[in-house]
Amino acid sequence: MLETTSSSRSVTVDAPAKVNLTLRVLRRRADGYHDLESVVAAVSLFDTLIFQPADDWHLTCHGEEVPGGDDNLVLKAARLLHDTCGVRGAAHIRLEKRIPPGRGFGGGSSDAAATLVGLNDLWGCRRSREDLAALGAHLGSDVPLFFGPPISIVRGRGERIEPAAARCSWHLVLAWPDFGMPTAQVYAAYDRLPSVPNRRPAATDILDRLAGPAREARPFLVNDLEAATRNLRPGADASKEVRAILERAGGAAVAMTGSGSAYFALTDTEAEARRLAEAVRRAGVETAVVKVLEVPNSRKEAPS
Ligand code: C5P
Repeated sequence: MLETTSSSRSVTVDAPAKVNLTLRVLRRRADGYHDLESVVAAVSLFDTLIFQPADDWHLTCHGEEVPGGDDNLVLKAARLLHDTCGVRGAAHIRLEKRIPPGRGFGGGSSDAAATLVGLNDLWGCRRSREDLAALGAHLGSDVPLFFGPPISIVRGRGERIEPAAARCSWHLVLAWPDFGMPTAQVYAAYDRLPSVPNRRPAATDILDRLAGPAREARPFLVNDLEAATRNLRPGADASKEVRAILERAGGAAVAMTGSGSAYFALTDTEAEARRLAEAVRRAGVETAVVKVLEVPNSRKEAPS
């Protein structure tokens, strides 16, 4: 999934976005995290990271807004690998940001995973992908999933990744509002919800529907955090929310990804996805048309 392209002077990694096709919260744990069961798919919306060897640290960001300074997961990941492997020197990193942050697409986590993979190559650290995924778990719950295949079942707080030997031919319309959702606050709001949600369908039931028509997946697209995000926006007009806009425009199988604020709609054809995206854009909501990634991890050598 995290493809690297190497030249003599740099390593480039494309970091994909993810969507949670389904997400069930199983329980709150003693450490404050929540055990999940989620089916996650990596999709064809990418940030690009370019790494060059240097004596000092330097991160430049282009495109969508990203949290700067030491809070940036890219620099945290770089320093973690640097210290773990006892590397001398540092790196200059260019981040081309296309995945909108704070929307549930895991962009920051994917960037962190890409940083571990890219700098592992650049510095010749020779850590396995399994080792890097374990390191990534220290940076955030969503980081390990980017070391798995395009479709996987995620358990625990996010660190247990079970490959799903599944393919799906759907096109997805991603749609996101002009605000993000703070993950910790969404989980806290989930804890305040009055009743225990119905456990049927299970998060994994979607796996039997991946080969079928998008419309038939609709009853299986569950996300336990959606009600919590609604409670965080008490005054919001439901008819103007992204779910309502997607459904009014004809989206037949719509769900929220992660802890929000973005949604996606499944369609059977690219033409249908493009029509839906255009209608949603006319309603003032940003969109992207993507597919679930198919290609397994591979390495390409670029001409230097
Ligand atoms: O791991 P990460 O830093 O991405 O998580 C952000 C916050 O989301 C955590 O501090 C926690 O409050 C919440 N969280 C959770 N259960 C998870 C993942 C995240 O409660 N499985």
